[in-house]
Amino acid sequence: MTDKTATITLGDKSVESPILSGTVGPDVVDIRKFYGQTGAFTYDPGFTSTASCESKLTYIDGDEGVLLHRGYAIGELAEHSSFMEVAYLLLNGELPSADELKTFDNTITRHTMLHEQLATFYRGFRRDAHPMAIMCGVVGALSAFYHDSTDIQDPHQRMIASHRLIAKMPTIAAMAYKYSIGQPFIYPNNELSYTGNFLRMTFGVPAEEYEIVPAVERALDRIFILHADHEQNASTSTVRLAGSSGANPFACIAAGIACLWGPAHGGANEAALNMLREIGRPERIPEYIARAKDKDDPFRLMGFGHRVYKNYDPRATVMQKTVREVFAALKVSDPVFDVALQLEEMALSDDYFAEKKLFPNVDFYSGVILSAIGFPTTMFTALFALARTVGWVAQWNEMISDPAQKIGRPRQLYTGPAQRPYVPVDKR
Ligand code: ACO
Repeated sequence: MTDKTATITLGDKSVESPILSGTVGPDVVDIRKFYGQTGAFTYDPGFTSTASCESKLTYIDGDEGVLLHRGYAIGELAEHSSFMEVAYLLLNGELPSADELKTFDNTITRHTMLHEQLATFYRGFRRDAHPMAIMCGVVGALSAFYHDSTDIQDPHQRMIASHRLIAKMPTIAAMAYKYSIGQPFIYPNNELSYTGNFLRMTFGVPAEEYEIVPAVERALDRIFILHADHEQNASTSTVRLAGSSGANPFACIAAGIACLWGPAHGGANEAALNMLREIGRPERIPEYIARAKDKDDPFRLMGFGHRVYKNYDPRATVMQKTVREVFAALKVSDPVFDVALQLEEMALSDDYFAEKKLFPNVDFYSGVILSAIGFPTTMFTALFALARTVGWVAQWNEMISDPAQKIGRPRQLYTGPAQRPYVPVDKR
């Protein structure tokens, strides 16, 4: 809170609105009393100028390309931390001690199994179902299996539900994949790390031992860190909005998964790799850049541009480096990486992208890595959902504990017909 105010004048009426300051970042004008004082609403479709809540989790400076979780820079976390440590940090506010991390890791590990009856639930889906369709359904169904952690007023139940969601998401995603290829489900193994376990559940088979490549395990863990949270993006806002009505956490996270699926959000990693494969050869890049610039063509460069970042997405920098590490560890290469590098170079030197401040985002390179590890494109968004569950759950907990929390209920600018008399069908 500051003692500054903003004066807003509507016709002959002037109102003073308090200006609130965060730790860093732009001030916000508190318009909570604005409608009561003026009888007018504010209009901001897409929330381009609207802060929907107060949060202590994640800070983004889009102009400078900065992303902090609880004050720690994403580059440092990606370099030195682990996904479990970042999960603890987001949920609890501080980095864990060695003992706290061990206990947290152990707790998550021991929640990775799914209720056995859920396996039959999978069999209700068609084999060609998109993994995100399965994720929406199965995560939503968790509330039917874990009644003992759906009382959102009980902090202990909220914590158990949070742990369950983070722990079970890799099992759910891996099972969605196994189901689609007709292989048996692989149960979790408590000896393995969170990410190693996920790799084994996805790529292992009961007939032989699955060997985890440490560099791949580390790369995937880093990808999870990069996707863990991103303040009030569309899916997180969806989780908060669903949760604001008092809905149970499993239902709220299922809502977040549904929102994430869209190609303008989490679905962009799948779309980006598909686009790079379609381009196929560096010679074809100018054609696609021309299409992206053409106002009459709906085509956009996928993995490019961001609502908040008007500079290089710091996550894309780490991703680009990780591609090289994974290629080296697996002794593979993919011509699509050269297409991506050259596309980035050409776009960044083009006036259209420079003027609109369009840079590669986290999704531009992630698909190249995931594909090298062996994931089909349809799994990309499911992996994003797995990692983002940590952020969703942390944001949901923060919202429920916030005394200023109210049910989310936006208003509208109504442009439909004013009241008119009903006309009987024979008179129309
Ligand atoms: N290719 C070509 N032009 C673009 C692109 C792009 N990828 N992104 C934005 N533009 C142009 C728009 O046409 C628009 O031009 P105009 O002002 O002449 O009309 C201008 O840049 C601003 O675009 P908006 O859509 O208004 O920006 P907004 O902030 O609403 O959208 C978004 C951001 C959705 C990410 C957009 O950049 C986009 O569609 N990118 C491709 C999809 C993508 O990569 N999504 C992943 C986002 S990151 C994530 O969810 C993890």
